[in-house]
Amino acid sequence: MKTSIAGIELKHPIFNASGPLCATAEELHMLGQSHASAIMTKSCTLEHRDGNPKPRYKNINHGSINSMGLPNLGYKRYIELIPELKKYLKPIIVSVSGLCLEDNKTIISALNNTDANLIELNLSCPNLIGKPQMAYDFEQSDSVLTEVMKLAKKPLGVKLPPYFDFVHYEQMASILNRHKVKFVTCINSPGNALFIDPEKEQIVIKPKKGFGGLGGRYIKPIGLANVRKFYELLDRDIDIIGVGGIYTGRDVFEYVLAGAKAVQLGTVFMQEKHGCFNRIEKEFNDVMQRKGYHSIEEVRGKLKEL
Ligand code: DHB
Repeated sequence: MKTSIAGIELKHPIFNASGPLCATAEELHMLGQSHASAIMTKSCTLEHRDGNPKPRYKNINHGSINSMGLPNLGYKRYIELIPELKKYLKPIIVSVSGLCLEDNKTIISALNNTDANLIELNLSCPNLIGKPQMAYDFEQSDSVLTEVMKLAKKPLGVKLPPYFDFVHYEQMASILNRHKVKFVTCINSPGNALFIDPEKEQIVIKPKKGFGGLGGRYIKPIGLANVRKFYELLDRDIDIIGVGGIYTGRDVFEYVLAGAKAVQLGTVFMQEKHGCFNRIEKEFNDVMQRKGYHSIEEVRGKLKEL
């Protein structure tokens, strides 16, 4: 079940989403040792960040809510770690989430001289107090991509927030096609959801008065819709990574039918830890075998209409 993203080969399509358990050196080494097909880092900023006050992540009935606030080691430390992570012989993807254009330019330029395989530019962090999600501002996204695509020597893709309106998909797809990004990752957590504990009559995470990014089963139909729409609208050489609410091999199969070449695990990884990669890959193989498919390309994008 091998696949590839921007020409970088993956032994199978399943690896971690930027977010859970990928911020520290120890966590990245554990991903190296796990069955994940790539190592993705937590989104990095110029400087180290402690993130938002705790509690800032909570498992809820059908998923999770978080407002982490980009806790990370700062990009220089991730660059230092790349040589030792290479021993796991899987692609290394650095997620970049500079707090302004200049920061993104600095980090992306520095990554040019490393052995990172791919860059995922995060245009969709919903949890920074006072900062809107960039990818909801089409003009600003356009100008950021103009600047960073000039600099990037590594294949660069973008992590997008969920869109809900066909016009917005069309506007963003036209920007991404024009800039010839190498891949897109759909979707980041729908931002600013609110979960309430009715017994305590209280919010469940501390930052932003309880508002945070929603993950898990709630968001699979939104993730599938975004992958499908971008599959329809993007140039064929832009690869799509699906993320959102994947718990089983059947969920992976649905994302591939919608058009994804690979998938990432977020909430399920946080809840089940490293065993989820092996379990879900095995379940996905079983679905493929039961249906008589031998490769991802036989299935990818082949969703039937009624
Ligand atoms: C965080 C959350 C995100 O969804 C994201 O894209 C980047 C950072 C966070 O709160 O740390």
